[in-house]
Amino acid sequence: MAQKPVVIGVAGGSGSGKTSVTKAIYEHFKGHSILMLEQDYYYKDQSHLPFEERLKTNYDHPLAFDNDLLLKHIQKLLKHESIDKPIYDYTMHTRSNEIIVVEPKEVIILEGILILEDERLRNMMDIKLYVDTDADLRIIRRLLRDIKERGRSIDSVIEQYVNVVRPMHNQFIEPTKRYADVIIPEGGHNHVAIDLMVTKIQTILEQKSFL
Ligand code: C5P
Repeated sequence: MAQKPVVIGVAGGSGSGKTSVTKAIYEHFKGHSILMLEQDYYYKDQSHLPFEERLKTNYDHPLAFDNDLLLKHIQKLLKHESIDKPIYDYTMHTRSNEIIVVEPKEVIILEGILILEDERLRNMMDIKLYVDTDADLRIIRRLLRDIKERGRSIDSVIEQYVNVVRPMHNQFIEPTKRYADVIIPEGGHNHVAIDLMVTKIQTILEQKSFL
């Protein structure tokens, strides 16, 4: 019987650099069997709501995510079955009509602000990482990214950060640090931490005879 794939969780606040860490690990194993699963793609479908209503949603609260679907998809991937991964549209604040068919792989990197908050997700992970970056760097990165890539204005990013992102980070995201096996300061620039993670993943894969 085929071995169970390895699941690595990468959590951390918005703008912490968790995507950079995920991509660095992904790039390292690119020639092998690896996939990325972003929790953001599993925001609840809001297509039934008018756009104005969708603007009011708290996207930093655990209830904003369809973790049941995410969990179901991970369970399928662990059984070596493919999934229909949803696609999320940040400009429309809802799921797009399209999906991506994702084939099962030996390594699954699960990335998202609140992936360590749900015990069911935590229980599926072989390694849990938390990317820990100072709030000033996180807001600067978020501001630049949201204006460039997510169609936002400076005012809207600042308003959302102060009223929602910051309090939710303190209430729900930061406390999940306690569940991490490893806390990585400064995200993608931390080459030592990334090398250590790559070595650890390699060891697990060797033990499972994947390499
Ligand atoms: O990529 P990142 O981890 O920053 O994505 C999570 C962030 O996306 C959350 O902090 C949330 O505020 C933001 N978001 C948003 N609008 C949406 C969905 C998520 O601003 N429609």
